[in-house]
Amino acid sequence: MEVICCKTYDEMSREAARAVAQVLNAKPDAVLGMATGSTPLGLYQELVRMHKKEGLDFSQVTTFNLDEYVGLPTTHDQSYHYFMHENFFKHVNIPLQNIHIPSGTTSNYHAFCEWFEKRIVDAGGIDAQILGIGSDGHIAFNEPGSSLSSRTRLKTLAKQTIDDNARFFSSREQVPIYAITMGVGTILEARKILLLANGKKKADAVAQAVEGPVTSMITASALQLHPDSTVFVDDDAAGKLKMREYFDWVQKNKPGAPKV
Ligand code: PGA
Repeated sequence: MEVICCKTYDEMSREAARAVAQVLNAKPDAVLGMATGSTPLGLYQELVRMHKKEGLDFSQVTTFNLDEYVGLPTTHDQSYHYFMHENFFKHVNIPLQNIHIPSGTTSNYHAFCEWFEKRIVDAGGIDAQILGIGSDGHIAFNEPGSSLSSRTRLKTLAKQTIDDNARFFSSREQVPIYAITMGVGTILEARKILLLANGKKKADAVAQAVEGPVTSMITASALQLHPDSTVFVDDDAAGKLKMREYFDWVQKNKPGAPKV
């Protein structure tokens, strides 16, 4: 697990965008795993800037989103369909038919989840998966207790997640309590994982995910089992990392790092 501590949210977003651009430069038809929430907004803005100003091309890219609320129509301003189109897809050149977002309105969730998993395999697997982290340590909507080998399925959201996400809705009662989400096992099959976290509210979850034991109570800790995962944090989210000094030392001295 590589930990990149950045001074600010903007720097964290730029570093993560650079990592995504490297994937696309090496493989223009890469399959990207997309995340929603407030955390990756800066990353998406930077990727849009790189597309418009530097010619970063998404024309051969395929995407799979991690999750979607159950029961919200795609036109609802808090649905992840709406979020992705508003904040990213409408600003870049990914062909619409290459975009996959779990359905929150299907009449058969079981069949949909199986189809979604199969589509990922048929696309060749996910090359780089972008992730946020919940204050309860979740990745996607894999709440505490989720099996670390879980697949795409319906999940009941934890109270803490409903509380955290209530800020986006007009009242807590309007937050859906179910979501369809990729499983931890699905996520771990991505070839590369980029987890982003910013703000003091994430400091405990980040420390437990990076330095704590691997446990289904903090599903992000499963990334310790992945051979190529990078955690991008700002100063606030890095605040509880005991090994911060070591992580910074590694960044300065890793093979190939510029000598300053
Ligand atoms: P946030 O959500 O980016 O809105 O904090 C992250 C998550 O729950 O994964």
